[in-house]
Amino acid sequence: MSKPEILMPKAMRDVVLRGLEDRFTVHKPYESADPQAAMNAIAGSVRGLAVSGLKVDGAFLDQFPNLEIVSSFGVGYDNVDAAACAARGIMVSNTPDVLTDEVADTAIGLLIMTVRELPAAERWLREGKWAGQGAYPLTRATLKGRTLGIVGLGRIGKAIAARAEAFGLTVHYHGRNKQQDVAYPYHATLKGMAEAVDTLMLVAPGGEETRHLVNAGILAALGPQGVLINIGRGTVVDEAALIDALSKGIIHGAGLDVFENEPNVPAALIALPNAVLLPHVGSASVATRDAMGQLVADNLVSWFETGKAVTPVAETAGITRRS
Ligand code: 8YV
Repeated sequence: MSKPEILMPKAMRDVVLRGLEDRFTVHKPYESADPQAAMNAIAGSVRGLAVSGLKVDGAFLDQFPNLEIVSSFGVGYDNVDAAACAARGIMVSNTPDVLTDEVADTAIGLLIMTVRELPAAERWLREGKWAGQGAYPLTRATLKGRTLGIVGLGRIGKAIAARAEAFGLTVHYHGRNKQQDVAYPYHATLKGMAEAVDTLMLVAPGGEETRHLVNAGILAALGPQGVLINIGRGTVVDEAALIDALSKGIIHGAGLDVFENEPNVPAALIALPNAVLLPHVGSASVATRDAMGQLVADNLVSWFETGKAVTPVAETAGITRRS
């Protein structure tokens, strides 16, 4: 029997290719002089896609009449229209769990960097100001006594909560539903939680449902001692409103790993001294990215060997292989 054909529209980590090469014919149109023509030539025989961040919508899917599975790199899959896949009977898988600790560690790191101004303090030393001008100014904010409101208490949110508790923080959460097995105070509205806490940790997925959840009103409710950390998706925050709030002291500071229009970060945000900005490095260690890549491959192997994905997304969890 011929091997199932997998399309990798853009280059991915070597571990993905290594996990696929024995069992599949892997098409890599990016190696060809005309990638679109190379893709068109094999579109009819493609049964699986391996993608990272690529926009996969209905029009894209329609190029592949025999597509069975989209194996997506990353826990967030707002780049993939999972409803359109479900409607076509196409499985979608993502890469949860293997990045949970890495992202939670980064989130706590970013929180401390922001509250204690560690990047600015380090710049102070490197610029010779310690020896030249004296000690770095005392930070107005401290981590001690903070109340952390987590938006999106899923696997990563819970890992952040456990770490935050170890740092002595009080944890609250907001999400669509109250979770029965969770003792942290629940807020049915984000506004209510923003009023009750002084630190907001965004771990929410992207997409239309969460777009600009954090707007001027939420930032005003968080208040002048408020710190906003976003480790989820940039689209969850109205970036223009955040720039306004940071520049007017409506909130104290922000730590961001994700942005509305990556990799472009507004100059106005870069200019703000009370923002700590990271280039979307939440899961970005070799070990974790390799584990994510392995899971991309494992989902494809499992699908074609057993008819089930290892980590299907919720929208397509009920889909099984037809043949
Ligand atoms: C990845 C992420 O950098 O998993 C996610 O949802 O945001 C990151 O871990 C990203 O998915 C790479 O495309």
